[in-house]
Amino acid sequence: MLKELVKRCSPLPSGSRLLILGGGFTGQHVASLARKLGTEVICSRRKASHNANIVFDSKATVLPPNEAFEGITHLLSCIPPTNSGEDPVIKILGNQMIKMPLQWVGYLSTTGVYGNCKGEWVTEADPAKPTQPRSQRRLACEQAWQESGLPVQILRLPGIYGPGRSALETINKGEGKMIEKENQVFSRIHVDDIAGAIMHLINLAENGKKPLIINVADNIPSANTEVLKYAANLLGKQLPPIIKFEIAAKDMSPMALSFWQENRRISNKLLCENLGYQLIHPDYRSGLKDCWLQYKI
Ligand SMILES: NC(=O)c1ccc[n+]([C@@H]2O[C@H](COP(=O)([O-])OP(=O)(O)OC[C@H]3O[C@@H](n4cnc5c(N)ncnc54)[C@H](OP(=O)(O)O)[C@@H]3O)[C@@H](O)[C@H]2O)c1
Repeated sequence: MLKELVKRCSPLPSGSRLLILGGGFTGQHVASLARKLGTEVICSRRKASHNANIVFDSKATVLPPNEAFEGITHLLSCIPPTNSGEDPVIKILGNQMIKMPLQWVGYLSTTGVYGNCKGEWVTEADPAKPTQPRSQRRLACEQAWQESGLPVQILRLPGIYGPGRSALETINKGEGKMIEKENQVFSRIHVDDIAGAIMHLINLAENGKKPLIINVADNIPSANTEVLKYAANLLGKQLPPIIKFEIAAKDMSPMALSFWQENRRISNKLLCENLGYQLIHPDYRSGLKDCWLQYKI
């Protein structure tokens, strides 16, 4: 919850100006937190909207005015790769970014770059071995950011959830399929913890602590059925019967199937033990309870 988050986070250094490219689900949360902490935030979307103060669309080549880039000290890119695997921000704004007085640049990537780890724990020291084409494109974007000459930090994220986008909505829409696959787990992160971790990382970077790649995940990778069961309990709703993966797979889209083909437990030790970030939602129970409480506000 934003109120709780504000209490826990330190503000950015005074005089900071944060540019968020791609103010979608995560970008909006980061923007709200940074604003509450007193930082000036400029946020883009592809169309003019009440929660974006600039428009940026790489495909339509709609660019923000030059003034939007003046005095930007911190930048966060939440924009996914293009279909050809290029990073739209580097491609279109690369020359402009080099001229900004940037102290910190965050790039939101995915833990999909690790590929299939057969259910093992994965740390940042493990090699990226993406198997899905979308994860190969993502790794290419990570590499472009690393080679950009900017003070980049790459955040690798598993499934993002939060108020308005969680297992509660899945259940409410009647889309909660109880698919069981032995030993299969998924890692997750509540969007508040992405925002909180970003503030934490920016402040650490000020003090010279800035690992290039950080996993931002909660403590307990879990089976989807477990998460759906907890969500259904909160809502007082019935779940459909369990269905074996081998049967469910016959009706899955290639995209859905690709998620089930990979199995990994994302370790957050670097973030939470070495760098001292305290998760607000250490597991899906805490996170879903928060989403559920916000229904009632
Ligand atoms: N969702 C997940 O579970 C998950 C997991 C791991 C990593 N990620 C990655 O983490 C990042 C943030 O995720 P999210 O769920 O917050 O994403 P999101 O809500 O879809 O936000 C993506 C943002 O990028 C903007 N965007 C997309 N294509 C663009 C383009 N060609 N030019 C300019 N802007 C463009 C969108 O503009 P509009 O606001 O106009 O739509 C939106 O603001 C994304 O890169 C995502 O792929 C997501």
